[in-house]
Amino acid sequence: MFFKQIFGSASVVFIYLTCVGASQSVWCTQEENKTKASERQADIQSADNRQPATESGDDDFQDFMKANLRIEKTPRGLPKIDPTGDDTQAMERINLGRRLFFDKNLSADQSTSCATCHQPQLGFSNAEAKPTGVAGKIGRRNPPTLVNRAYGKINFWDGRVETLEDQALEPIENPLEFGNTIENVLELLRQDENYVTAFANAFDDGITRRNLAAAIASFERTLLSGDSRIDRFVTAEGLTLTKSERQGLWIYESKGGCWKCHTGKTYTDESFHNTGVSWGVEPLDLGRYEFSKSDEHKGQFKTPTLRDVALTAPYMHDGSIRTLEEVIEFYDRGGTPNPHLDHRIKPLELSAKEKGDLVAFLKALTGRHSWDPPENSN
Ligand code: HEC
Ligand code: HEC
Repeated sequence: MFFKQIFGSASVVFIYLTCVGASQSVWCTQEENKTKASERQADIQSADNRQPATESGDDDFQDFMKANLRIEKTPRGLPKIDPTGDDTQAMERINLGRRLFFDKNLSADQSTSCATCHQPQLGFSNAEAKPTGVAGKIGRRNPPTLVNRAYGKINFWDGRVETLEDQALEPIENPLEFGNTIENVLELLRQDENYVTAFANAFDDGITRRNLAAAIASFERTLLSGDSRIDRFVTAEGLTLTKSERQGLWIYESKGGCWKCHTGKTYTDESFHNTGVSWGVEPLDLGRYEFSKSDEHKGQFKTPTLRDVALTAPYMHDGSIRTLEEVIEFYDRGGTPNPHLDHRIKPLELSAKEKGDLVAFLKALTGRHSWDPPENSN
């Protein structure tokens, strides 16, 4: 398994270039999804007599991020990507970005790093509904996963920032996250010999605001989650799903209508919808409207990916739903009625068994990652 090899040769730093042009669409179109749905049903039915698969892995995560990250190829099931580009300094940037990501000194009171709210073993999210940042301050929204943001088109629940580079500096100055200033952080980095060297190796012009953002974003683009049980089933790699997981996959693609927004290989359309989560609950969060001031955006939030979703509880922009079972109940009710509810959200009338199947499907979307400890990666 190539994940094992990564850990067997942690000192070897090598990125295999499997780039397809950035202009190529990475999203399955809705038409493609419809065709796939009918093929998949036949697949699912013919697979009924296969052996049920065993549950994979345990949660025994270590301080694995210290190992050098090597991406040999895009994990199965994801659109081909090259997180580094054809650039010899790329690996230096990624390693530097990783170090910054885990460095609590970037926060005003040395209490908080990016990883405080984006923890690797929790799918780069956080177990708190609203996260705790600098000086014990409580954030306003639930930290989303950072996996597969390399494919992302827009960031934050309300889409107020486009690129990962633009996003990366925001937490530093956010009074509820790092509560610091970029100038302070740059000064701190200039006083640390290791950082001075690392920046000099990664960039031609050393420690700058732009390079700080670029290093963090480069690291984030390596956080790929694929090769889940669903991917191995769908790509006919011989892995079987349990009957319940297969039925769940089918409901996702048919009566559940989940694919309409959790689209394609990344399980998100990177677009905004009102599903009514916490509609009318104080303090009001009107989502995309707060940033666009356009009425049609009221209560719209970005569709989160479903990959690794079993790791990222609690759920939704405000962490108001604790479990996947409760998420399915929410959709089964048809979300929360409100004047701006997305037309795709309707009561589903799922049976208890169908609800359990959908949950089993969601759990089978947990991927294998380059940062998993070796015992988890067979
Ligand atoms: C105190 C907790 C906290 C810290 C610290 C934090 N984040 Fe976040 N992060 C969040 C929350 C909450 C959101 C969602 C905010 C929103 O959408 O308004 C978020 C959103 C993001 C997103 C957008 C993801 C998406 O799918 O839209 C990225 C990328 C991100 N954070 C990266 C980082 C990086 C890099 C750092 C360190 C420089 C960092 N975060 C530090 C809590 C945190
Ligand atoms: C109309 C588009 C749409 C449809 C259809 C849809 N979702 Fe969602 N989903 C969203 C949006 C938008 C959010 C975030 C809502 C929020 O936080 O306010 C979300 C959130 C979620 C979450 C929480 C993920 C997280 O990280 O917090 C899960 C799980 C989920 N959806 C599963 C499903 C399932 C299963 C179905 C089918 C039964 C489904 N969705 C149908 C748009 C949709």
